[in-house]
Amino acid sequence: MSVVSQVPDGGAAVAERGPPDDDLAAEQTSARILVVDDEKVIREILCEFLAMEGYVVRGVEDGEKALGELRLRPYDMVISDLKMPKLSGLELLERITADNLDVLTVIMTGFGTVETAIEAMKKGAYDYILKPFKVEEVVHIVQRGLDRQRLQQENIRLREALTLYKVSEAIATSLDLDQVLDVILRATVHEVACDVATLHLQDPKTGRYEERMRLAADGARGPAPAPRVEELMGFFQRGAPILAHGVKTNRFLQPIGPGGQPLVSYAAVPLQVSSRVIGMLNVFSFTRGKQFDEGARKMLAILASRAAASIENARLYDDLVVKNEALRSANLSLEENFQQTVAGFAQALEESDRYTRGHSERVAMYAELIARGLTLPDSEVQTVVKAGLMHDIGKIGIRYELINKPGKLSPEEVSMFREHPDKGRRILAPIPCMRHLIEGCWCHHEFFDGGGYPRGLSGQNIPLLGRIVALADAYDAMTSDRAYRRALKHDVAVAEIERCAGTQFDPELAELFLARLEELRADARKRGDLGLIPP
Ligand SMILES: [Fe+2]
Repeated sequence: MSVVSQVPDGGAAVAERGPPDDDLAAEQTSARILVVDDEKVIREILCEFLAMEGYVVRGVEDGEKALGELRLRPYDMVISDLKMPKLSGLELLERITADNLDVLTVIMTGFGTVETAIEAMKKGAYDYILKPFKVEEVVHIVQRGLDRQRLQQENIRLREALTLYKVSEAIATSLDLDQVLDVILRATVHEVACDVATLHLQDPKTGRYEERMRLAADGARGPAPAPRVEELMGFFQRGAPILAHGVKTNRFLQPIGPGGQPLVSYAAVPLQVSSRVIGMLNVFSFTRGKQFDEGARKMLAILASRAAASIENARLYDDLVVKNEALRSANLSLEENFQQTVAGFAQALEESDRYTRGHSERVAMYAELIARGLTLPDSEVQTVVKAGLMHDIGKIGIRYELINKPGKLSPEEVSMFREHPDKGRRILAPIPCMRHLIEGCWCHHEFFDGGGYPRGLSGQNIPLLGRIVALADAYDAMTSDRAYRRALKHDVAVAEIERCAGTQFDPELAELFLARLEELRADARKRGDLGLIPP
């Protein structure tokens, strides 16, 4: 393809030539070069040759037209003559630098003006071409310049990719919101070279955007003014970029308080999850001459897009932790309620009979004495206490007259009575939070020598919970009044436990229990509190 076009403004010659093939995609990826020379022949020769090399080329006749072109569309390189009417090559170079136009400049000059060419290079020109030139030389310089520019751009992209990789990695592995915000602000201050960066997040309850964290560069001035959130939101919703300098920043920010530094430059980007703005990232420059450019704003936008999802994740995780905790405590209180209800049943059962009143609570107290003597962990001591309270829950299923019968039980009545440990197991089994108490109910009438019921277990085969409750139960049963006999004295009960240690009771537990019981009694006597201990 080869195109020659005339620009409409005043008929000045502007020629555009493309690469020689018809491949439009290739044209889009080809480097764009602007040739500026008032000598038509030179301009056209250069345009023709560079187009044959595959570049997209335009030619203009002076510096002013060149500046107009450069502002109109992007170019990778300008090849400009030094001496031209209106705007000279040197002036063009100065304007390119002042306008921050990202383009490589090569100066063409006659033999007598080499010093000027060197002057131009000091002002930022990439290279110079001496007239008259060989076309191969020009092509070589152009190629070298564009290669260097490409490498520089790749380098920048690589650096950006590396930063983003580091940020992404740091925030992807963290569910701690403060840590995620800290990583983002550090990357922002580093990449955009601002004095202060702030992060505002929307409070999910009030919907208001509050400053959540800020970071100032070392030795930075400040403080940063607060953003006008509504104004910013309007811009965000329209997708309009927020980048302002000097007094123009007033539109987006609250007035700076007395003594505050004048703001030089400000940029802000939204933190978005889907179309929802969950917050914003702001950067402030108070340093004279340090204005943020579009590149900095784009970098911010990239950081913000990486950050938004991680912030949302960290916030969801926080929510989840709080909700889980609420659920856990609700579950706990539900379990406690349930246990209290069942304990209430057990107590109601006892209350109906003056002989067994307070029995379960005393069994729980003695069982705790044994558990503490065994130095069981606290959670297991609690299990022992609860098992003590529940151990006779199965009696709910036994007829009242039978439990309280003053005389001797018939063999049928005995076997009916002996069902209560198994009935207790059946009551507790369907309730998940009470299953761990079953062994206390089910096994507290087993004998160490295997002569007990309901299963005739022996020795260590009887679960510890059962062996503990058996001792506590037997001692309290002996030392309290029953329908069929008066309470026995403490010493008699002790003698009976000693006599049955190894047959009915676990001998080691029995020894430990009696020792702890003596300590308890001695302590109670010392305090003069004899109400709870059997005489
Ligand atoms: Fe019992």
